[in-house]
Order: sequence, then C-alpha cells, then structure tokens
Amino acid sequence: MDSTRRPRILFVYYTYTRQALKVVEAMAVILGMLPAQLRGATGEIRIPDDAGRGDYDLICIGSPTWFFKPSVPIRSYLKSQEARRILEGKRFTAFVVCRRYWSINLKAVKKLGTKRGGEYVNGIHFSYAGGQVRSLLSLLSYFGKGENRERYLGIKIPPTNLKPDYVEQARAFGNELADRLEADEPTARPARANGPIGLN
Ligand SMILES: Cc1cc2nc3c(=O)[nH]c(=O)nc-3n(C[C@H](O)[C@H](O)[C@H](O)COP(=O)(O)O)c2cc1C
Repeated sequence: MDSTRRPRILFVYYTYTRQALKVVEAMAVILGMLPAQLRGATGEIRIPDDAGRGDYDLICIGSPTWFFKPSVPIRSYLKSQEARRILEGKRFTAFVVCRRYWSINLKAVKKLGTKRGGEYVNGIHFSYAGGQVRSLLSLLSYFGKGENRERYLGIKIPPTNLKPDYVEQARAFGNELADRLEADEPTARPARANGPIGLN
C-alpha cells in the first residue's frame, strides 16, 4: 500500500434498535486515529511555553498507548526542537496509561527522549482491570457513552479506566523520584514539583 495515501473506511450498516449504530460509533473513534497513528506520523500540536524552554532537573513524560505506541501528540512533542531544549542533558522519566499494552509505548518514549538528549531514569505503567476481552469491551463501551456501564453487549464488564490503586502507585513512584533527586542535591534541598503541563 502507498504509505502516503490515507486509508478511507466506509461503514455500511442498517440499524433498527440502534445497536449496530453503537458499535459503528465506538469503532469510528478508534479507526479515525488509525492512519496517522500507524504511520508513526507527527502532527501540529500547541506546546505550552513551559514545555518549550526552561531548566528542569527532571522531566516526566506521560503518555497513553495508542495502537501499542505513543500517541501522535506525545510523539510530535518528543520529535520537536522544544523537547530537545527541555531534555538535552537532563534526566527524564515516563509513565504510560493504557488498557493493557504498555511496554512498546514506554520503550518508544524512552528512545525518543534519549534521541533528544535526555537521560532516561525510570518508568511506570498503569493499566485497566479485566482480561483481554472484557477490558476492551469496557473501553469500547466508554467510547460510545463517555461513562462506565455494568454490561456491554450483554456481557458483565469491569469499570474502565485506571484501577483504584493507581493513586498509591503514582505517589510511591513520585516519592521514589523525589528521593533520588534529593540524594543528588548537594545541599539536600527538598525537591519541588512544578505544575503539570499538558499538550493540546
Ligand atoms: C485511538 C486509541 C487507541 C488505543 N490503543 C490501545 C492499545 O493499543 N493498547 C492499549 O492497551 N490501550 C489502547 N488504548 C486505550 C488507552 O491507552 C487508554 O484508554 C488510556 O488510559 C487513555 O489515556 P488518556 O485518557 O489519558 O488519553 C487506545 C485508546 C485510543 C483512544
């Protein structure tokens, strides 16, 4: 297939009680992202000033998995000159949020950040409850409705999104990073976190 050609997808369906429509809507959300994501494309993103310049001791890159890899926006940032300015000669860490698949994404973030001159120190991932099928049904149901449901297509499903223990895990990870930073500080000054910076 010509890699520059955008695949076009047509859904032909008939629906009477709107069940087929629900499935189409859920699939369309995912498939709309697919071409650019699979090509490993970058896109135009707005990078906040704080993520484009500044002198940070540690940078934490957070990224959802999209089709196993980093999403187009975070990949676009990690390939930008702004990211080079921030990461060059600095330590960075990463976290991945996903339904199930985190390792390819985390490795890619590590590789892209290292290419921009950063020194990777550590990473963590957060995933959803349920096995392969039920976690996918939960996510598809969430795409369609924007909220958790108890059943989807007649099957009992776990709540989608992060498992409740993500808070403790995130705090423990944050503490570990703070300890590491403090250990490296000559005057043992406590580590200070700037506010989070999101891309859009
Ligand atoms: C377009 C798209 C593709 C996705 N692909 C995967 C995937 O391949 N593997 C996976 O485990 N999760 C996948 N997910 C689920 C997301 O990684 C998961 O919902 C994540 O927690 C979303 O984080 P966010 O709400 O911060 O964007 C996908 C989600 C979307 C929207």
